[in-house]
Amino acid sequence: MTLHVHPDIAALSPYVPGKPIEELQRELGLSRVIKLASNENPSGPSPKALAVINESLASLHRYPDGGAFRLREALADRWKVAAEQVIVGNGSDEILGLLARTFLSPGDEAVMADHTFVIYKMEVMAAHGKAVTVPLKDWRHDVPAMCAAITARTRLLFLCNPNNPTGTMVSADEVAWLLGRLPEQVIVVFDEAYFEYVRSSEFPDSMAYVREGRNAIVLRTFSKIYGLAGLRIGYGVTTPEIANFLNRIRPPFNANSIAQRAALAALDDDEHLARSRAVNQAGMDQIVNGLSAMGLPPIGSETNFVYVDVGRDGRGVFDALLRRGVIVRHIEGRMIRVTIGHAEENRIFLAALAQVLQAG
Ligand SMILES: Cc1ncc(COP(=O)(O)O)c(C=O)c1O
Repeated sequence: MTLHVHPDIAALSPYVPGKPIEELQRELGLSRVIKLASNENPSGPSPKALAVINESLASLHRYPDGGAFRLREALADRWKVAAEQVIVGNGSDEILGLLARTFLSPGDEAVMADHTFVIYKMEVMAAHGKAVTVPLKDWRHDVPAMCAAITARTRLLFLCNPNNPTGTMVSADEVAWLLGRLPEQVIVVFDEAYFEYVRSSEFPDSMAYVREGRNAIVLRTFSKIYGLAGLRIGYGVTTPEIANFLNRIRPPFNANSIAQRAALAALDDDEHLARSRAVNQAGMDQIVNGLSAMGLPPIGSETNFVYVDVGRDGRGVFDALLRRGVIVRHIEGRMIRVTIGHAEENRIFLAALAQVLQAG
């Protein structure tokens, strides 16, 4: 039967997620599989979140609060903005889609790095916009080149900060330079999914630009350090005007009731956050030292993952690690991305990689 597919959609490829643990176990008959592929928190959710999840179950016959009132109030309080400036999404992924559909008319442009988070390009194309990609320089966003790529058709500029998959950061000075030159109508999307892991004192205070009333949105998520990826909940902080436009196409019950309550509880769990950060720091040292000892120093990362040149076809290394029950992410060429796990998971990964490289 003939299908009439929009050419912009036909040109897309489906997103390939990290392989689920159970699937690999089934396929290869492995008893132990570790997944270091999707930048999840190896310590799991906050105990405070788990407690309210249990309490929420008895009210599942009710629709969620479509306005996510309590969560938005708490986030507004945290970031010193008005609640009307906060939008909650089914993961921050959903807000990326809302941005593209709201602000791009066919042929409008969105500037982004190459490589960066793949969903930007997908959402821009699905909204019939044009993705203008600017190659990284030394694995970092090339901010002057991104600025030079702005045209009269540019509506969105994505700064993935820190960047996925490289883990590198755009500094406060670079952001100040960029925002001093950017035409006012271009909306800057600060995608800060890994914000809570950042250690550098040079990281920009992007919320300050939103408070100043710049056309900007800061995206954060409960999927990473908060350990709630399976619930799908993230948020954006922006101007009241941008939030108002996004809310016109936001599905009314996009954030489910369990996720809203769990996020609220997780936001309040400073202990879990501090512990997760410490586990990540120790694991980062372990992985960086281990890889460096193999002659494969990864790119300096401000996140919970590293990006490393394995010196040979990365796909082959990825496949060989899979057969040993270790799931990482092959990005392109010789590059693989590895999420920082618990000490034991990191040890298993390093040992498996050493075997794979020795086996040639
Ligand atoms: C840079 C970046 N932005 C956004 C997301 C999406 O997060 P969420 O789970 O909130 O949709 C991810 C997830 O991997 C990410 O790496």
